[in-house]
Amino acid sequence: MRGLPPRPGDRVLTDPNPLRDVRDRRLPDIPGPCSLVIFGVTGDLATKKLMPAVYDLANRGLLPPGFALVGFARRDWADQDFAQIVHDAVKLHARTEFREEVWQTLSEGIRFVAGDFGDASAFDRLAQVVTDLDRVRGTRGNHAFYLSIPPRFFGDVVQQLKRSGLSATDSGSWRRVVVEKPFGHDLASARVLNRQLDEVFEPSSIFRIDHYLGKETVQNLLALRFANTMFEPIWNANYVDHVQITMAEDIGIGSRAGYYDGIGAARDVMQNHLMQLLALCAMEEPLSFQSRDVRIEKEKVLAGICLPKDLHRHTANGQYAAGWQGGEYVGGYLDEEGIPPDSTTDTFAAVRLEIDTRRWAGVPFYLRTGKRLARRVTELAVMFKRAPHLPFAATDTAELGQNALVVRIQPDEGVTMRFGSKIPGTEMEVRDVNMDFAYGDAFTESSPEAYERLLLDVLRGDPPLFPRHEEVELAWMVLDPVLAAWAEDGRPEQYSAGGWGPSCAAEMIARDGRVWRRP
Ligand code: BG6
Repeated sequence: MRGLPPRPGDRVLTDPNPLRDVRDRRLPDIPGPCSLVIFGVTGDLATKKLMPAVYDLANRGLLPPGFALVGFARRDWADQDFAQIVHDAVKLHARTEFREEVWQTLSEGIRFVAGDFGDASAFDRLAQVVTDLDRVRGTRGNHAFYLSIPPRFFGDVVQQLKRSGLSATDSGSWRRVVVEKPFGHDLASARVLNRQLDEVFEPSSIFRIDHYLGKETVQNLLALRFANTMFEPIWNANYVDHVQITMAEDIGIGSRAGYYDGIGAARDVMQNHLMQLLALCAMEEPLSFQSRDVRIEKEKVLAGICLPKDLHRHTANGQYAAGWQGGEYVGGYLDEEGIPPDSTTDTFAAVRLEIDTRRWAGVPFYLRTGKRLARRVTELAVMFKRAPHLPFAATDTAELGQNALVVRIQPDEGVTMRFGSKIPGTEMEVRDVNMDFAYGDAFTESSPEAYERLLLDVLRGDPPLFPRHEEVELAWMVLDPVLAAWAEDGRPEQYSAGGWGPSCAAEMIARDGRVWRRP
């Protein structure tokens, strides 16, 4: 993360202030020689995100010369077959242009190991492959194992890594494991998963991916709050009325029935992405952006979350029904292929939370997410209290709403400030206007994909953007009671595809005298 102290090998400039570390920004911060071993290379994530991100990093000159990519899956492939799969994935999904010379160099380090997650001989073969890579590609014993596989296999794979000696390091080398959510389906299962990982890897070698933390706009929340003077003084209960965090998707579950059914919106994205956004929005200033300091502050927020007493009135869930979306009539969740007709899985989730700290006392945080909503948008909106006194005639301010600061996380990345302004003319009439910062206008560089950033951080051993197991467990402590309340309610309310979710969500926020934003 920017602002981190230099690592061994960084070129350091002398700074007059000895307490401030300075890295020469003209030099790219490239990891040392290493390999990335991906389990589950036939999955969607590997094809659409991981392999393209590896190529994009190579194309940006951010991978070391001694780099290798190893695939592990139950396929009867040779190295060249896997290289072809990577090639096709890169051509289809990479962010940066395809350059033959970059691809040639990358493909020389591509290997494949065929096997099952429980098959000891396959892991022995993998051990042999990485040893060969150390010799041939100079990867020097540094290997990251990316488990892009269902969590029920985590235990088997890490045990096999241990048995085959793949998790063991010798002097100066490293071994890391990268895991993808869901980190369990409740607190108890998350604890089991964490124990399985802890038995084999040191906490500092475990990287839990929350790809929202790799998004530029999410990281910018930290810059916005802690690099400026004008926001922080009003970032508290004295000025903030409430906060709305929305992650709306227009897509349905596509071909992910097997993953999604029984998981649902709250477990899929609220437990991780939305809780992390909440933590970054609400936390105190960390001592530094080192992993430990950021984690301490995020954990304080998560530990301070209070759920409403009546969960049935202050949370809402729903499931999409058929409807019109973007000019197309789309089926409902129960019509999706692979979904049982009596599924009670929620595809929409909303909760009202408070944070029991001096800064946030009495300020509700409303979190909502859903599939098949009106449009794809993720934003964090800080809604301010009204001015304590308005020296205008009531009619003059009839069109004045609440001041708002909206961090537009995607797709239209930027920040909007909404405030009242006089309408030109002879009368004193005030109406809401927007002041916009758009990434596309302000910067010429396009933002890297979240996975580029996160993979690079794994290989560099840079952990601030990865949640620790304490955070994961605290987030489950918040969600477990909500999920239990929904299980009692039975079938979630159906909402039409293409709208803004079930009516119970609108009623939930209306009980507090507020409305959801229509981004
Ligand atoms: C994933 C969820 O974590 O995030 C998906 O599993 C969701 O269900 C996706 O669609 C959304 O990611 P993004 O980056 O497109 O907002």
